[in-house]
Amino acid sequence: MSKQRLGVNIDHVATVRNARGGAVPDPLRAAQLAEEAGADGITAHLREDRRHITDADIDRLVAGLRVPLNFEMAATDEMQAIALRHKPHAVCIVPEKREERTTEGGLDVLREESRLARFIEPLRDAGSRVSIFIGAQEAQIAAAARIGAAVVELHTGAYCDAHAEGRTDACDAELKAITEMAAYAHSLGLEVHAGHGLSYETVPPIAALPEVLELNIGHFLIGESIFRGLGPAIAEMRRLMDAARGA
Ligand code: PXP
Repeated sequence: MSKQRLGVNIDHVATVRNARGGAVPDPLRAAQLAEEAGADGITAHLREDRRHITDADIDRLVAGLRVPLNFEMAATDEMQAIALRHKPHAVCIVPEKREERTTEGGLDVLREESRLARFIEPLRDAGSRVSIFIGAQEAQIAAAARIGAAVVELHTGAYCDAHAEGRTDACDAELKAITEMAAYAHSLGLEVHAGHGLSYETVPPIAALPEVLELNIGHFLIGESIFRGLGPAIAEMRRLMDAARGA
């Protein structure tokens, strides 16, 4: 089975920094440590309200990273201009609501298919690999393929929530949907990624899906780093992913 990439999301290093203001902890330093610990890429979400990652963080990440940057962004003109200025390796288009604590669901590609098709075209032309963050639903995946996305990232949040709350049937149903939709997206020629809410407990079945070539994981790893340090926290995630793929 092909190796699965691990993208480490460093947003919540910035959340902790911003709780006090000032410069520490530094998201770039965390990203560089993540690189050393085996991250294949760094993911950062510049939210419209700049609640964690800032414009200056993106400037510094673009200048200071050796691994690819996956720039998560809402489909707004402001974010498109920033992405076109930096031309990151990858952009991941996510839905964004000011009042939400995190990205709660996937993008509704069907609802705004033609606008999104126009929106991603210049990003693709600039050389960024365009990913769409969506739920494991056939109609949304088909729409992502029609608008010309290269990648779909399947939202694993509902699966992880069901696991955390001990709702076994719901957890199994979510996992079944992700499994089937990963195969479906792959059959349409889309590269398949997954992420949101993943932890050491929830990662193995997702990491084992052969079509899923990348996982993006943030909150759990930053939390776990309080207890074991960021490098060891990432190394353990890497180990679990490799073990799930029989590597
Ligand atoms: N993938 C996408 C598209 C996301 O929006 C997020 C959260 O910002 C993640 C992955 C990582 O989720 P978590 O921080 O829960 O691991």
